[in-house]
Order: sequence, then C-alpha cells, then structure tokens
Amino acid sequence: MAFLQHFQETPFVISVALGVLPLFLYFFIKGFVSSQMGSLSKLPPPPEVPGLPLIGNLLQLKEKKPHKTFSKWAEIYGPIFSIRTGASTMIVLNSVDVVKEAMVTRYSSISTRKLSKALKILSFDKTMVAMSDYNDFHKMVKRHLITNLLGTTAQKRQRNLRDTMIENTLKRLHAHVKRSPLEAVNFREIFESELFSLSMKQALGRDVESIYVEELARTLSKEEIFKLLVHDPMEGAIEVDWRDFFPYLKWIPNKSLEMKIQRMDFHRKVVMKALMKEQKKQFAKGQGLNCYLHYLLSEAKTLTEEQISMLIWEVIIETSDTTLVTTEWAMYELAKDTKWQDHLCQHIQNICGSDNVTEEILLQLPHLGAVFHETLRRHSPVPIIPLRYAHEETQIGGYTIPAESEIAINIYACNLDKKRWEKPEEWLPERFLDKKYDPQDLYKTMAFGGGKRACAGALEAMTISCTAIGRFVLEFEWRLKDGEEENVQTVGLTNHRLHPLQVILKPRDR
Ligand code: HEM
Repeated sequence: MAFLQHFQETPFVISVALGVLPLFLYFFIKGFVSSQMGSLSKLPPPPEVPGLPLIGNLLQLKEKKPHKTFSKWAEIYGPIFSIRTGASTMIVLNSVDVVKEAMVTRYSSISTRKLSKALKILSFDKTMVAMSDYNDFHKMVKRHLITNLLGTTAQKRQRNLRDTMIENTLKRLHAHVKRSPLEAVNFREIFESELFSLSMKQALGRDVESIYVEELARTLSKEEIFKLLVHDPMEGAIEVDWRDFFPYLKWIPNKSLEMKIQRMDFHRKVVMKALMKEQKKQFAKGQGLNCYLHYLLSEAKTLTEEQISMLIWEVIIETSDTTLVTTEWAMYELAKDTKWQDHLCQHIQNICGSDNVTEEILLQLPHLGAVFHETLRRHSPVPIIPLRYAHEETQIGGYTIPAESEIAINIYACNLDKKRWEKPEEWLPERFLDKKYDPQDLYKTMAFGGGKRACAGALEAMTISCTAIGRFVLEFEWRLKDGEEENVQTVGLTNHRLHPLQVILKPRDR
C-alpha cells in the first residue's frame, strides 16, 4: 500500500520541483515525457486468443492445467498473448525473454498480486511474503525470513535439523526394506512426513506429535495437523469461484465453495493458535528457543499475533511442499533411467569415496546438481506464478499492456521452450554439465522465478533436495514398481504427481 501511495504522490512532488526549475527545463522534460507516452501508446496490444462473447476463453481452460493450454497457444500466437477470463483481460507470458522483462524491467508496474477469492481468504488478505504486494510490509517480513531462516548464515545454523531429517528418512526406508524387501515403498508418505517435521522444528522449535485444539474440542495427531495445515489449504488454493471472473455478479451467493474455504481457514487459524500457545509455554521454560516463532515474538514487535501466525504457517507450508515435489520427481526419473542412476552413484563414489554426501561437498558434485536442475526444468514445481496485476499501463515484449490486466507468468512454458532447450520433453541432466552453466547458479532455469520476487527458499530447497537425492542413490538401487512409468499425471497448484511415487528398493553394497 505504501508503495502505491508513493506512486500516487509522485505527480505532486514533480510539480513542486518544477516550480523551482528554470522554465526551459520544464519544457524539455514535458517534451520528453510526452514523446515517451506517444511511443508507448503506439505499440499494439498483444495478440488475442479468440474466445466466446461474455465468458471469453474460460471454457477452453476447464482442464485445470492452464500451463499446458497456455503453452499450446504460445505455439500459435507467440510468447505473449492475451485472453479474456470473463470480465478480465489476462496477459500470458511464455518465454524467458518476456518473463525476465516483466520480472525485472517492468516490475514496478506489475508489483501487485491479483488473488482469487480462495487465495485471498487463505492468505489472510496477502499476509504472507509470497502472496504480498511489494510494499513496506513485504520488505520487512522478507527481511525477517531471510535473517532468521532462509539466508546463508541462518541456513548454517539449521544444518543439524536437515541432517536429522535425511537420516530419519533413510532409517524409515531401510526399515521398510527389512520388513518387506519385495514390496514397493510409498516414498512420498515417508519423505513428506519428515519434511513436515523439519518445517515444524524450524518454525516452532519442536516436532509436534499431537496438539489439543480447544475450538475443535479434541487432540489432533501429527497426520491430522499436516492435513489441516498443508494438504487442505494447498487443495483450496486452486479452487475456482466463478465469481472471480465476473465481479459484477459477486452479489450472487456461492455458498458451498465459500464455506469450504472458510472452514479450511478456520482450521488453519485454530491449529496455529493452539501450536503457538503451546510453544510459548515451552519458551517460558527456556525450550525450543532457536526457531522462527521465538525470533518473531522477540524481534518483530510491530506484528500482530494473527500476522505472526500467518508468517509461521507460511514457512511450514513452503518447506513441506515444493521440495517434496522436486525430490519425488527426481527419484522417479532416476528410478526410470537406471543408467543415469548408476552413473550418478559412480560419480558420487568417485568424489566421496566411502564417505556420505554432505552439504559441504555438493558443489563438487556437478552431476548431482545437473539432476536437480533438470528435474526443476522438466517438472517445474510452480508452473504458473500466482497472478500479478498491472496497476498502470506498461509495455512488455514490444506490446502495450493495458492497466488493470492480470499477468500470468508461465514458468512451465519457459522451461520447455523448444527455441531454448534441445528435446525439451526429455529428462536429460547432461545438458546442465555444459561448461556454460555456473555450478553455483541456482537460477539456471526459471523454476525459482526471478527479479525482486525470486524464491527466498531456493538455497534451502537445493541443499535439502541435492543431499537427499545423493544419499538415496548411494544407499539403494531404485526401481519403479510395475505400471509406475505411465503414472505421471499431475495435480495441484504446485506440480504434484497425482499418485505418490511407488518404488522397489534394494540396498547397495557399501
Ligand atoms: C524446489 C523448490 C521451490 C520452488 C521451485 C520454488 C519456487 C518459487 C517461485 C517460482 C517463486 C516466485 C514467485 C513470484 O515470482 O512471485 C517463489 C517465491 C517464494 N518462495 Fe519458493 N520455491 C521453492 C522452495 C521454497 C522453500 C523451501 C521456501 C521456504 C521455506 C520458499 C519460500 C518462498 C518465498 C518466501 C517466496 C516469496 C519471495 C518474495 O515474494 O519475495 N520456497 N518460490
């Protein structure tokens, strides 16, 4: 908001300044500005995808995989085009060049978000770093998040938590193999629950096994906490309320959806309240102090209880979801491509000898990095970035973008662009072994976004995922359960496999 206010104040500041400048400077600036405005308005609008009167292109998007539909349209209409979603115009960006231009050069014109009704409720009206507009609140909470949790120094402090998480996952995989060596293991069930434990330790200072929630009058198990804090809201985030597309009809009730989302929001609120209450008691006894909640309570005095609850929840949901998506896809690809799996194992053994993969050694393992980046490219965990909004007219890719357009950034299309990637549909980690890629660069693909809003958790995601993949292939031979190869449908806001990965594991001789 402060950012918008600043913008609205600008003409006033300019007119005061002009009062004290010599007259010729005034005419020079005026002439310059109007010539710029003139050239801006001369640019054409982006090509339009034909749709129907009133509803526009909505029916063509009913498949719920807009990133794929947009990519097909990009082949016909080019990397930037416009569609109509009911009453709104949406500009869709599908290539690295136009996306970078939007994220960096034109960022100040599109720094606000356009959230669906569901996301507005679930994000407590943008009270999250990732969903916020670019304003003073965003800058402050992002600084807290980096300082305490996601920056390089903070990540070093959290090292033992990540190591424990990977050890626990391996113990559970070994236990399964010992119990039922020929039976496929549900990889997601184990890795997801260990990531969730890590997220709770980071955010709250403790891996909570159960919690009594007063408003629900019962004790919730860890699985139930996961469902209410992570699983349900991720599902709710993609709920589409048709009134989002026709704001002039918003007086018509859509009770069932509204109640579903309100219920999810209520559950999140009361579970977080109970967790925070319990943790405050622990803090008073001097326990669990090294966590984000304790940091926010002591350092961020201007934040309300509700805002702190949202920021803690944000860390839980972000840690639990996208890293799982990436690691699960990587293990699927390696289990399918056993040649690459053996090659990776051999490469790691050559460098590490009989030692394990540790975080310190990741930069010396380019083949492991290549698997990570190729998986991010081929299976972009965030295929479309939550919509941005052009609060003023701007231009992108040589076209005029009208004020009040919604902007969809299609990362999936950028990462599968035939003009940029050879055989883009194929999973080929060797492409990232090319010398032109800097091993330290986290942004080799568009998977983490870019510019001022690039992913704040990229370092953590890379560290966890690479160490885990390295340890997993050193410990076991991975093979897909029969039928798994065709099991590649996806679902959700983040590019989840529809069905959890099922693999047969055989311990390696070490
Ligand atoms: C492989 C895993 C991940 C992927 C692919 C990913 C992807 C992204 C993308 C594309 C954005 C940019 C959104 C935009 O431009 O508006 C983003 C933002 C963000 N991500 Fe991630 N993310 C991952 C893991 C994480 C983790 C583990 C965390 C934290 C624990 C995290 C925290 C954030 C935050 C706080 C933002 C917002 C940054 C801002 O708005 O300034 N991410 N992420």
